[in-house]
Amino acid sequence: MLNLLKHPLLTHKLALLRRKETNTKDFRETLGEISGLMAYEITRDLPQKDITVETPLGRCKTRELAREVVLIPVLRAGLGMVEGISNLIPTAKIGHIGMYRDHETLEPKTYYSKFPDNLPDAVVMLLDPMLATGGSSSEAIQILKNHGARTIKLVCVVGAPEGIKKILKDHPDVQIYLAGLDEKLNEHGYIVPGLGDAGDRLFGTK
Ligand code: PRP
Ligand code: URA
Repeated sequence: MLNLLKHPLLTHKLALLRRKETNTKDFRETLGEISGLMAYEITRDLPQKDITVETPLGRCKTRELAREVVLIPVLRAGLGMVEGISNLIPTAKIGHIGMYRDHETLEPKTYYSKFPDNLPDAVVMLLDPMLATGGSSSEAIQILKNHGARTIKLVCVVGAPEGIKKILKDHPDVQIYLAGLDEKLNEHGYIVPGLGDAGDRLFGTK
């Protein structure tokens, strides 16, 4: 299912991320802030369990998170989303998937993966700012499923209709979260209007 997040702060910050004048420092900071705001919305449905804690004045019946959260950034650009979310969920374990799109075929090439061992029981948040053709995210989800992940939330910032269609078809069990739904892909597979190459803008390459 597609969840398009429309909080005014998110839309405001996404406009800054899209601007071509936004420099690397501001791009990095803003992507982090957007990721935190998205996580706040996305975690609304996390299961909780009843607990009792001792305050300085007595006993308090309250709740805490019932399941662990795992963050999986897709290298490179997903790295820019980790800090903003782990600041809110400091107990989250972090795995990594390294992949890039072949410039000719636009097919994803996976070169690295490393996961914590609690994937099967955790709520897994797959982080990648761009959902273009959907090839990278679909492949990353399959890798996570092959390692036992059962609850996967795909957290992207900007998406194109092509990518959304592919994820809904390949992985109908996965929730997709976006802050911006754009018009189309261009002939090079870039999202239009999008924000350009997220990895290059985040790390100052090119
Ligand atoms: C970008 C982006 C996604 C992918 C999206 O990574 O961060 O991973 O493209 O495109 P898709 O939906 O068509 O698969 P890129 O391949 O540029 O790798 P990089 O971040 O290492 O430069
Ligand atoms: N990857 C990016 O970084 N940007 C796009 O628009 C598409 C894929």
